[in-house]
Amino acid sequence: MNERTLLIVAHAPSPNPVALRNAVAEGARSPEIEGVAVQVLSPFATQPEHVLSAQAVILGTTENLGYMSGALKDFFDRCYYPCLEETQGLPYALYIRAGHDGTGTRRGVETIVTGLRWRPVQEPLLCRGAWTTDFLAPCRDLGLAMAAGLEAGVF
Ligand SMILES: Cc1cc2nc3c(=O)[nH]c(=O)nc-3n(C[C@H](O)[C@H](O)[C@H](O)COP(=O)(O)O)c2cc1C
Repeated sequence: MNERTLLIVAHAPSPNPVALRNAVAEGARSPEIEGVAVQVLSPFATQPEHVLSAQAVILGTTENLGYMSGALKDFFDRCYYPCLEETQGLPYALYIRAGHDGTGTRRGVETIVTGLRWRPVQEPLLCRGAWTTDFLAPCRDLGLAMAAGLEAGVF
């Protein structure tokens, strides 16, 4: 089977979100997974071409002021129309780092990806509250599940 690409678009402005992003990437790059290339990019570095050449996407963001990070919003602002016709049905997952809420971010992202007609294949993962390393295992699991789904061709 041809190699498939899992794109991780993650905003990680400080050490804890970096740890979450790295855990997602680590899970996605688990040694037992074959035939899946994992690309990790900041939202600012992500171009429409990266999305167009991916078979699944994981979105990661902090919640700032009740909404997704400006970085992830910028990604959508630039990529929405170039991707709209080409990426309908794209499997995606979402994780959020939120100090105390996360609902506005989830709603905002889901509104946009509904417009894109991307397909949620995992429950959104909300890492909410005071920081704990307990957030890391579910992030690893999310990355692994997405990569395993691509490997198995179930998406
Ligand atoms: C300016 C600012 C606004 C924030 N707004 C929210 C918010 O609306 N909802 C929320 O749950 N957390 C909010 N937070 C907390 C961040 O989500 C959190 O600090 C960020 O995800 C990084 O995680 P860390 O604090 O564990 O490093 C805010 C943080 C900052 C600095």
